[in-house]
Amino acid sequence: KAEVGLTDFIHINDFDKETILKILERAKEVKALVKSGERTYLPLKGKTMAMIFAKPSMRTRVSFETGFYLLGGHALYLGPDDIQMGKREETRDVARVLSRYNDIIMARVFAHQDILDLAKYATVPVINGLTDFNHPCQIMADALTIIEHVGQLEGTKVVYVGDGNNIVHSWLLLASVIPFHFVCVCPRGFEPDPRTAKNAIKAGVSKIEIVYDPKEAVKGADVIYSDVWASMGQKEEAEYRRKVFQGFQVDEELMKLAGPNAYFMHCLPAERGVEVTDGVIESPNSIVFPQAENRMHAQNAIMLHALGL
Ligand code: CP
Ligand code: NVA
Repeated sequence: KAEVGLTDFIHINDFDKETILKILERAKEVKALVKSGERTYLPLKGKTMAMIFAKPSMRTRVSFETGFYLLGGHALYLGPDDIQMGKREETRDVARVLSRYNDIIMARVFAHQDILDLAKYATVPVINGLTDFNHPCQIMADALTIIEHVGQLEGTKVVYVGDGNNIVHSWLLLASVIPFHFVCVCPRGFEPDPRTAKNAIKAGVSKIEIVYDPKEAVKGADVIYSDVWASMGQKEEAEYRRKVFQGFQVDEELMKLAGPNAYFMHCLPAERGVEVTDGVIESPNSIVFPQAENRMHAQNAIMLHALGL
């Protein structure tokens, strides 16, 4: 793919700092164009994108589909019952067939290996729309949101409170490329993947901490970040996790400890009253909706980069 100017977007640390910052800069430019009502910038005209969803989605589906259309292209939604990748048909066959119809593939899957296989066999760029391991498009949108609200990502303190899941892995991969202070505060036994954390720390780019005391961790934070305690595929553990995660709810008291300037972020969907209180999500410091909007703008820039445009 590289020979013909095409790139997959699977992990943030597949790219260097310069490229990530370039994509974020492009996201700002294209965002400004789209928001100005400008409708003559159509770099994706005549292009099509296949979107494979093995899991539910609102933001990822709507932001990719709308973004691709606004830039002139056409996106197709393929839901969990359509392709049944790995069940009705092997992933490597899906990759090769779709590559013959479409210019780009976006996929949300369970096993991370599935996105790796798709990327290996597809002759067009493959974009990761979330796996059990990571969610790079989300963290690109989050980085854009932090740049817009805090002013910059470099040097900010981001404290993630909760489960050491796919979102945390993408934060860790971003922290191996761009310098900031990343703290994951989680219950014991719910830490992020040790190898991913170790490699991110070893990269020596950012200050990275995995800690266990939320009240201590949030001090001096620029951003408090939360996600569900039971991710897609773990919903049967929800009740058990609610017990284990006691003390990890982002509530008004925790926000107060962070200080009056700390922003609240959440990738959404949120379970209000579980990992975050209704009051925090509705507070003036909550930037969850600009954050959700930025999914589309960040992804537009990611798709342009992937297509070499
Ligand atoms: N944040 C996010 O990926 O949302 P969806 O699951 O609705 O796509
Ligand atoms: N950790 C969550 C993120 C949803 C966008 C999940 O995987 O369900």
